[in-house]
Amino acid sequence: MHFIYASMNGRRKQLSNLTDKVILVTGAASGIGASTCILARNAGATIVAVDRSDEGSIKVGAITRENEYVASLDVTDEPGIEKCVQTVITKFGRIDGLVNCAGISIPGPAHTLDFNSWKKTLDIHITGTFLVSRRVIQEMVKVKSGAIVNTSSVYGLSGGRGNIAYNTAKGGILQLTRSMAADYGSAGIRVNCVSPGYIDTPMSVMLKNAGDFRDKFVKMHALERPGQPEEVAAANVFLLSDSASFITAANLPVDGGFSSTHIIP
Ligand code: NAI
Repeated sequence: MHFIYASMNGRRKQLSNLTDKVILVTGAASGIGASTCILARNAGATIVAVDRSDEGSIKVGAITRENEYVASLDVTDEPGIEKCVQTVITKFGRIDGLVNCAGISIPGPAHTLDFNSWKKTLDIHITGTFLVSRRVIQEMVKVKSGAIVNTSSVYGLSGGRGNIAYNTAKGGILQLTRSMAADYGSAGIRVNCVSPGYIDTPMSVMLKNAGDFRDKFVKMHALERPGQPEEVAAANVFLLSDSASFITAANLPVDGGFSSTHIIP
């Protein structure tokens, strides 16, 4: 991935620069989270990579380095989050950025989805985003600085068939983003959201086996191709960086035009 350079006062400056920043990424073992770790590191960050997967899988997915911190952490585990953040503060002294990427998808419309699947989906997406953000913000307010990027979806922006819990959770993440941005702007903390369209990751792989659904879905994107995890990661890195210093409470669709067009394949 190449970063764009801009000329400022005659000097070339790297956009989306994260030099010396400590960035915590959840869902770091796979897909968009793993790509975010890699791109953030390329932009100069020190990575804290967490996922409910084992540490070995996270190290492989996020290609972590010696000086980075890796932890097996479920984002719904409040004592686990406390322990993780305390370890990061002891090790690095601060957390400059957080990307809430952990997620699952349990498809089904309301009348067939079981209650546990509903609760689990909302727990991981909404409560997980809340709990990790809440604990990280407690550190960020001490230094009056920080940036958080949450992960919604094009299905957090409008209705969609057959995924009631996921779509509801993603809508909730957007509102959580705006409300946290309102609460912490005066403390120098920016909170934004990305809303990916169809991205080729292990989560979306199940659609490949769902007849021609995937092809139709992909054709509903103006760019007529699936997105790649790096393309969402690049948006995450931008929103974390000082290049986005006056952007907060925003939602950035990374969706090849899906949410702003109505294409009938
Ligand atoms: P993925 O399945 O490749 O990665 C998700 C990661 O989250 C996995 O490593 C998994 O172990 C981890 N995870 C799940 N539950 C967890 C928990 N309770 N605690 C900690 N880690 C947990 O999926 P992908 O596609 O990279 O998804 C990342 C985010 O992007 C998710 O929030 C997803 O909903 C969102 N998204 C993905 C889209 C896609 O087309 N792939 C589209 C729109 C949004």
